[in-house]
Amino acid sequence: MIPPHIVDDILQASRIEEVIGEFVNLKRAGSNLKGMSPFTDEKTASFVVSPAKQIFKCFSSGRGGNVVSFLMEKEHFTYPEALRWLADKYGIQLPEDRPATPEELAAISERESLHIINEFAKEHFMGNITQSDEGKKIGMSYFVERGFRPEVIEKFQLGYCLNSGKGFSDAALAKGYKREFMEKVGLTKVKDDRYFDFFRGRVMFPIHSVSGRILGFGGRTLLADKKVAKYFNSPESIIYNKSEILYGLYFSKGDIIKYDQCFLCEGYTDVIAMYQAGIKNVVASSGTALTKDQIRLVRRYTKNITILYDGDAAGIKASFRGIDLILEEGMNVKVVLFPEGEDPDSYSKAVGTTELETYLEEHTQDFISFKADILLKNGEDDPIKRAELIREIVHSVSLIPDQITRNVYMQTIAQRFEMSEEVLANELIKLRQSAASKQRFTNTEPRRDNTLTNSSSSTQASDPYANEPNPMQEEMASTEMAKVDGFDHNEYDLMRIMVQYGALGLSHKELNEQGEEEEFETSITELICHELDVDELVFDDPLFAKMYQIITDSLNEKVLLKSSYFQRMEDQAIVKFVSEIEMNELEISHNWITKHGIYTNSEKDNLRKAVMGSIYSYKVSKVEKRINEIRKSLIREAEEMTDEVLIDLLSEQVALENVKRIIAEKLGRIVMR
Ligand code: CTP
Ligand code: MN
Repeated sequence: MIPPHIVDDILQASRIEEVIGEFVNLKRAGSNLKGMSPFTDEKTASFVVSPAKQIFKCFSSGRGGNVVSFLMEKEHFTYPEALRWLADKYGIQLPEDRPATPEELAAISERESLHIINEFAKEHFMGNITQSDEGKKIGMSYFVERGFRPEVIEKFQLGYCLNSGKGFSDAALAKGYKREFMEKVGLTKVKDDRYFDFFRGRVMFPIHSVSGRILGFGGRTLLADKKVAKYFNSPESIIYNKSEILYGLYFSKGDIIKYDQCFLCEGYTDVIAMYQAGIKNVVASSGTALTKDQIRLVRRYTKNITILYDGDAAGIKASFRGIDLILEEGMNVKVVLFPEGEDPDSYSKAVGTTELETYLEEHTQDFISFKADILLKNGEDDPIKRAELIREIVHSVSLIPDQITRNVYMQTIAQRFEMSEEVLANELIKLRQSAASKQRFTNTEPRRDNTLTNSSSSTQASDPYANEPNPMQEEMASTEMAKVDGFDHNEYDLMRIMVQYGALGLSHKELNEQGEEEEFETSITELICHELDVDELVFDDPLFAKMYQIITDSLNEKVLLKSSYFQRMEDQAIVKFVSEIEMNELEISHNWITKHGIYTNSEKDNLRKAVMGSIYSYKVSKVEKRINEIRKSLIREAEEMTDEVLIDLLSEQVALENVKRIIAEKLGRIVMR
C-alpha cells in the first residue's frame, strides 16, 4: 500500500494536461484543452481536459475523472499501478522503492536477467532472418511462403534459430550472460558437459507480456517429419507462466478496447494472419488449453469474446470448453466456426480480407445456436438426443453468474426449442444446486458474482440458490423513475449539492436555549443530513449510500468534506461522479458566458432554495416510490391478504398521499418564491 501522504504528494505533483498530453494531442479551447478521444474512433474533438480542475471528460464515451482515472481507463492500470506510473513520471520516491531485502533483490535481479536474455535472444533470432545466409534462405523464406508480409514479420518480431547447434548460446555467453539463466528460460539445453540451442532449426515466435517484454518463445520446426514436434514452447519460469499469458495481447489490446471485442483463436499463426488481414483485436492461448486467468486478462479490456476455432473435432471440443469458461467469468461469448480443415490462418489467406470480414460477420453465432447446430447434426428428430442437447445447453447457461443474463438466455432456449420456460427453469435450478453443493464440498474459490446478485450474498452462504426465482414470475425492478446515467435523478441531485456546496453555510433562525430567536449558521451538508435523518431516509444507490456514509462519518468528527476530498479517493466510481458534476458546471458556465455574454443565475445565488428544493423533491420521490409499491401489492395480492393487512396498507397509502401533498406544497412555495 502506498501511504496516504505519498498519494497526496503524487496527486499534488501530477498535471493532468501533461499526462494526457502524452496520449492525446491537446489544443487550447478557452480555459480548457480539447482533443480527439483516445477511447473511440471519433472524427471531431469531444475530449475535454480542465487544467484548472484537474479533470477530464470524454463526451463520446462518457468516461471522465481525474489523472488516475485516466491512466486506469487508458492503460488499464490498477489504482496502485497508476500511482506508481505518476510517481515515476514526477520523480516521487515510493517507500517500496527503498532497498529490499537481499532475497528480494536477488529475485528481482534474476527476473531482470531472464528478461534481458530473452530480449537478447529475440534480437539475435530477428537478426538471423535478415543477416545470415541460412536465416534468410530458410527462416525468412518460410515466413514469406506462408504469406506473412515484411512489416508484419517485423512487428511480431519473428526470427529464426540457426540449425548449427549452439549459435545463440555462444553469442549469449560471449555477451557475458550466465549459462544458468539461459537454461532457466529454456533457450539453452545442457547435456553432460555439452550445451546446445533448444530451438535450433526452428522459426521463432516471441511471446510478449502485456507491456511488451519478451517472456518466452514458440518455435516451429520446418521439417514435415511427423515424429518431430511441430512446436516447441519455452518452459515455465519465474517470468513465464503460460496460463496467465495470451499471445498477441500486447499488439491487440488497443483494438480490443476500441471495438469492445476480442477474437480468440488457437495459435501464433492465426493471430498473425488475422492481424495481417486487418482484424487486429485478436489473441491466442498458445501452448496451453484456454485458462480462467487468460479469460480474466481479456476481461480487463472487454467483456465480449468471439471464439474462432477450426471445424474439426478437436476445435469443436476446445470451443465447447472455452464457451463454458468464458460464461463462468461473466463474459459474453460468440463463436465462429470455420469450414472443416480451415483455421483463421489458412482461411484468411484463401479468401482475402473482405471475404474474411464477411465470413466473420455472417458466421458469428451465439453459443446456444452454435451448440445446437453441432449437437443436433442429423439428430433433430431424435427425442433422446434432443433432450440431451437441451440439458447440455442449459448447463452452459447455468454457469453464468448473473441471474438476469441467465434468464434472457433461458428465454432464447425456450423459443428455439419450443419448450416451456418453466420446465427449463427447473432444470437450471437443479444444475445450479448440484454445482453449488459440489462447490461447497470442494471449497474452491468463492463465486465472483457481479453486484446484481451480490446483494443477496448473505442468504447464498447457507443455501446459495434458495431464492432462485422462477423466470416466469420474475419481474425487473421498477424503472419508472427518471435516471441520470443510471442514477435516480433526485438522489443524484442531492448528492451533487452536498459534494459541490456541502461545506457552505446557510443562515437560519432558530430558538436558542433561552427561548429567543437567534440566527444560526449551518452547513448545507448538515442541513441535508439532518433532513434525511428526521425522516429516516437513506440513499438507495450503492455509490451514494457509500458516499453518504463517508459524509456522515466525517460529520461526526466535525469535518466537512469538499469535492477535492472525493476527487482523491481510490474508488473510481466516486471520482468519476465528482468529476462529472464539476465538468458539467464548467461546461454550462463556459457556454453561457461565451454564447450569451452573461453569467448563469447560478445555484450559489439561490442556494437555500436549491437545497430545500432538492431535499423536498427527494422526499417526494421516496414517498411516491412507497405509494407505488403499495399500489402494486394491492393489485396483485389483495385476494390473499387478510383484512387487517389490507386495511393497514390502505391507511398507509392515505397517509403517504397526505405527506406527499404537504411536501409538494412546501416544494411549490420554494419554487414559486
Ligand atoms: N500449436 C502449438 N503446438 C502444436 C501445434 C500447434 O502450440 N504442437 C499452435 C501454434 O500456435 C499454431 C496453432 O496452434 O500457430 C495452429 O496449429 P497448426 O495449424 O498445426 O500450426 P501451423 O504452424 O499453422 O501449421 P500448418 O502450417 O500445418 O497449418
Ligand atoms: Mn495452421
